[in-house]
Amino acid sequence: MIKVGKSINESVKNLINGEIVCIPTETVYGLGVNALDQKAVAKVFKLKKRPYFDPLICHTNSIEKVKLFVKNFPRKAEILAKNFWPGPLTILLEKKNIIPDITTSKLKTVGFRIPDNKLTLSILEKIDFPIAAPSANPFGYISPTLPKHILDMFKNDISYVLDDGGCNIGIESTIVGFEDKKTLVYRVGGITIEKLESIIGEVEIFKKNTKLPISSGMLKNHYSPKKDLIVGEIQSLIKKYINKKIGIMSFNKYYKGIDLKNQIILSKNLNLEQASRNLYKSLHLLDNMNVDIILTSLLPNHGIGKSINDRIIKASKKNEL
Ligand code: TXA
Ligand code: MG
Repeated sequence: MIKVGKSINESVKNLINGEIVCIPTETVYGLGVNALDQKAVAKVFKLKKRPYFDPLICHTNSIEKVKLFVKNFPRKAEILAKNFWPGPLTILLEKKNIIPDITTSKLKTVGFRIPDNKLTLSILEKIDFPIAAPSANPFGYISPTLPKHILDMFKNDISYVLDDGGCNIGIESTIVGFEDKKTLVYRVGGITIEKLESIIGEVEIFKKNTKLPISSGMLKNHYSPKKDLIVGEIQSLIKKYINKKIGIMSFNKYYKGIDLKNQIILSKNLNLEQASRNLYKSLHLLDNMNVDIILTSLLPNHGIGKSINDRIIKASKKNEL
């Protein structure tokens, strides 16, 4: 049985002992370990069945602390950090050797962020190492936004789940890095492109040009339920798949002819922030329902809608747009 509770001291003690503690953040729950402890970091890769080429994000509670672990902190990073930390923005920076290769999958950069969660910040205040924390799900599966999701997905090897209820933003952080004079976005997430550009000027979405994905957010299939998630125009999909047991995740309306208990709405009032908060929770629910397939459609493609659509497309095995 995995222990769940609200104890900061127990979380800190377990982290210092090199164990895995699930930490709440405003985006999703993370599988946290001491980022400087190679053995502890290896435990996380093993538990998640995560390929070693996929680096972890480090979490701290102050810009001063981040500076201890990176070679430099460019002016643009300073501006972004001042505007968005604590918050759902990860900044890629050139790492010092003290960050082990396993944490960054041998990359020269390390991703850092200050999460906007009181409990996790209290842990970070009490320790002098960063917490490396990937989303607390088996590799490729839906990220967790509630402790229950973690307990459904893992049975062992987590020493403590720090419970802070539901995550406020509900999808992962936006990841940015700097190359030449450009600001590159490696993953769209909790901070919208519009917000980023209002602070830093034009940004560019990073397009991979190698065979290996630099960021798992760049893998084609990710964030996926076990059931087939099909994206398209829901009404036509219902006709097409009428012989299957259908589950629906829709933005704001219910569909006739499908059992209401198999339909989940992301936001009755068409609010994209609320939809983001409900996204993974809805996918977890539908994946555990007695349905064969999940039908969904894309949301308005602006603001955090872009990040939601990115997750929906990557989570879908079939895209019938
Ligand atoms: O919101 C979040 O970022 C959550 C919470 C727990 O903080 N964490 C999270 O971690 O989403 P994870 O491991 O599920 O996704 C981290 C992503 C991966 O796609 C990884 O490839 C990318 O960050 N990443 C980490 N370090 C990187 C680096 N140095 N260069 C490029 N991508 C990096
Ligand atoms: Mg993840």
